[in-house]
Amino acid sequence: MSIAVSKYAQSQEYGTVYAYDITMGDFSAKILSFGATWQSMTVPGKDGRRRDVLLGFDTLEGLLGGDYEGMIVGRYANRLSGSVTINGENFDLEKNENGVTCLHSAKEFSFANWASRTVGEDTVELIHYSPDGASGFPGRVEATVRYTLTADGAMKIEYRAVSDKDTVLNFTNHAYFNLSGQGDILTHTMKINAAAYVPVDKLDIPWGEIRPVENTAFDFRTAKPLGQDMNAPDEQIQNARGYDHNFCLDGEAGTLREAAVLRSEEDGITMTVLTDNPGIQMYTGNFLDMPGKGGVHMGAYAGVALETQYYPDTPNRPEFPQCTFKAGEEYHSVTEYRFSVDK
Ligand code: BGC
Repeated sequence: MSIAVSKYAQSQEYGTVYAYDITMGDFSAKILSFGATWQSMTVPGKDGRRRDVLLGFDTLEGLLGGDYEGMIVGRYANRLSGSVTINGENFDLEKNENGVTCLHSAKEFSFANWASRTVGEDTVELIHYSPDGASGFPGRVEATVRYTLTADGAMKIEYRAVSDKDTVLNFTNHAYFNLSGQGDILTHTMKINAAAYVPVDKLDIPWGEIRPVENTAFDFRTAKPLGQDMNAPDEQIQNARGYDHNFCLDGEAGTLREAAVLRSEEDGITMTVLTDNPGIQMYTGNFLDMPGKGGVHMGAYAGVALETQYYPDTPNRPEFPQCTFKAGEEYHSVTEYRFSVDK
């Protein structure tokens, strides 16, 4: 068990970017100060060969031109329909998508170089302050993220944030997983413990419906290959060219519970996601198209993101579980990605 820190990049705009390599037996992970990014996760397969199960980049430039690969997203992960109303006051947000919607709070927390330090031999702590008014949101927010690689092969991510004004807080990690470390995820199986999901309009904004997954392509209550219904004649699937939807997790939000299980039979690797969040966005990388690590092209379905979160556009949807926090009130959330290898 060890952590090594090194200089990853020097940027005129962002300063020195640090990399933290955490090693724990057969598992290792790299965390970057820029974007508080989970840059790599190395896991042995049943053949004993180690593979990096995260999509991403070798350089800071890659990350800057990327699709939030491994980054922390906040203060509001996912989409908001252009504005939020807090205590009756309307706040216009940065509309970084189609000039209409706000995706991942634009660059607020992802495109920032966080202050970072090690805690013990297994944890990296990152802190970033975002000013009042950033991307249009009220309140100066201090966010702290802790990544811990546990002895049994889990990456535990703990999020804390506090604002000096009432605001919305909803953080996630945007890692894309591919348990083979290459190719696509269409033959990986997925299980999601959700009896319902949130359908969205053409701009990926919900209208408030929570739709049962039963008899739809969205039923992952029993594990099935991700590719199985990827082309289903379902308007939601057709519009997104695959999955890009929030699943409403079973069980009680606020309690750490199993959310999803991703598995590659071929590699003998299973990843179990646990979270205390009410939802999880599954995005199958439907529009990925860029060079990644080692210059290898990342195309559609090269990886799957499992973003634990509150539902999209929650502040404008009173029927969803709410995430408006009072000034000084702490936002706290935990998500774990547990890796296990067939013996
Ligand atoms: C969204 C996708 C989006 C991607 C960008 C995901 O969280 O659901 O629609 O293209 O993030 O990184």
